[in-house]
Amino acid sequence: MLCRLYGVFYECFVNVGSADVALQPGPAITWRTIGGILDFYVFLGPDPASVIGQYLEVVGYPTMPVYWALGYHLCRWGYGSSNATWDVVKNMRNYGIPQDVQWNDIDYMDRSLDFTFDPAAFSTLPDMVKDLHSHGQRYVMMLDPGISSVQPEGGYWPYDEGLRRGVFINHTDGSTLIGKVWPGLTAFPDFSDDVTHEWWYDNLKRFHDKVPFDGLWIDMNEPSSFVDGSTVGCPDTELENPPYTPGILGGLLRAKTLCASAVQKTSSHYNMHSLYGLLEAKASACALKRMLGKRAFVISRSTFPSQGQYSGHWLGDNRSHWKDMYTSIAGMLTFNLLGVPLVGADVCGFSEQTEEELCVRWTQLGAFYPFTRNHNAIDQKPQDPPAFSPLARSAMKQSLLLRYSLFPLLYTLFHRAHTHGHTVARPLLFEFPKDVRTYGIDRQFLWGKSLIVTPVLDPGVDFVVGYFPQGLWYDYYTGDSIRSKGEELRLKAPLEHINLHLREGAVIPTQRPNTTLFVSSGQPLHLVSSLSEDGSAGGELFWDDGETIDTLETDQYAHIVFTVVKNTMTSEVLHDHVEASYITVETASFYGVKVEPTRVTVNSQDAAFTYRANQVRAAVLTIKHLIKFR
Ligand code: NOJ
Repeated sequence: MLCRLYGVFYECFVNVGSADVALQPGPAITWRTIGGILDFYVFLGPDPASVIGQYLEVVGYPTMPVYWALGYHLCRWGYGSSNATWDVVKNMRNYGIPQDVQWNDIDYMDRSLDFTFDPAAFSTLPDMVKDLHSHGQRYVMMLDPGISSVQPEGGYWPYDEGLRRGVFINHTDGSTLIGKVWPGLTAFPDFSDDVTHEWWYDNLKRFHDKVPFDGLWIDMNEPSSFVDGSTVGCPDTELENPPYTPGILGGLLRAKTLCASAVQKTSSHYNMHSLYGLLEAKASACALKRMLGKRAFVISRSTFPSQGQYSGHWLGDNRSHWKDMYTSIAGMLTFNLLGVPLVGADVCGFSEQTEEELCVRWTQLGAFYPFTRNHNAIDQKPQDPPAFSPLARSAMKQSLLLRYSLFPLLYTLFHRAHTHGHTVARPLLFEFPKDVRTYGIDRQFLWGKSLIVTPVLDPGVDFVVGYFPQGLWYDYYTGDSIRSKGEELRLKAPLEHINLHLREGAVIPTQRPNTTLFVSSGQPLHLVSSLSEDGSAGGELFWDDGETIDTLETDQYAHIVFTVVKNTMTSEVLHDHVEASYITVETASFYGVKVEPTRVTVNSQDAAFTYRANQVRAAVLTIKHLIKFR
């Protein structure tokens, strides 16, 4: 039997870290691992999207995010004080720029100690968090796994209690392994032990009683250390110096991390290393759910297959370079294939100084990362939207409002990822697997199957070239159509514009945006339909209260399917739950209505409409005030 093979997923249990993966010049990959169990899965597809769906059946579908995870996040390392952080939030509000979440990096901590805040510079942190909450906004702060081991005895509960409960990773002789991270000498919690999960929860709870944070940013969890192995080195054993060492940083398994021979509850660190970020994310997500009784928000730097069940991911330290913005698209798409759809890069770039034009273009692209956060390194000039000129600020604001208006679509795509293992941000080849010209495209991508994003990735241009697979495409903003034979098209792209096109045959739910998703998600829907040549289109909406855990399992959601056939749009309510998911439709627009209608009815009653025919196949029919027809 001849099978078509599009994807192979290889998983090496137990030792999951130490492997070389070499791409060969031919269509071949060489795997070289130095231990562990080899479990091979072969996913037969037949198409790329089915390969991913099958892979995710094995590693688990991603969790359904809390609604505000999909809003705009603002962060930097080095705000310096809670008041300075708060000022940025207030500025954002003054300019009416959407922001759902404010973050702090390690500088909020007292001497970089987890579960503390600087009593001087960050004394107003609890007040700031309360203020965020009273504006429907949220607060996320960083935690590193390294727990300071050198505080006076009895003076630092996380370490004292951790020692008492035996939660830290040890050397083979039973002594606590000490490495070095931001607070200086640190011990590392062993997240492969349930006892550690309980201790982690207790620490979070105690800190939450002081600062009522909403989510967690877990960093340095490879785990990363500034010394190799430990402060006293590592024993000279075969685990530390195996006969073959894969091509890793420093050429040593212990380089900038813990000794491979270190002892964890489940196994040696040699076997557990790559699971560190996954297990820390699991402990964090479980603790947040237990503490807050809502869906957990966790963003992790280190990841492993199954990660999407517990956290999202940011793509790590990038630079404020045009090239880094461009490569972020491939990174974002890759994590969507890996079942971690809540992903994005540091918008405007982390290290080095950003430029205004780059930051505008990046904010536009970032508006289409499933997870969008502007983050900046210490000592760099501010790069939050209010830090720029009125022109740049307004362009950033427009792109964020656009994202917020598309929230019902984005949320529904996350539901599909959660229930069917679909991608949210998607490479073109997934939708057009027979069009070989889509295979190499890494400058454009889709949201779901219908919305194509063509960002500007180069400086000093006011146009962008994008590839449009064969078919009818509509400019999202105007409804003007493009009939493509499968060709590259040059599109206008002035600084304030990001090109968005809708594929024929879609109905997408949108909403009037506001400055928080808390407000905008309460607005009625505006349905946008892009008609196929034969006048048909279809789409769906998944809706719930945005934060309750397991709404699907407990029936607290609405699921509505929209269909347009033969000049008639119908909505079929597949599932309804009025209290948790009340929503109305206010407006419907139809792109591609070829003949001006003489009459439009809504639920058999005549309705007012507008018809704009500025181009063949570009006519847009809009019907407003639908609420009164309910
Ligand atoms: C490394 C992280 O990747 C970066 O985002 C963060 O700002 C620094 N650690 C400081 O915490």
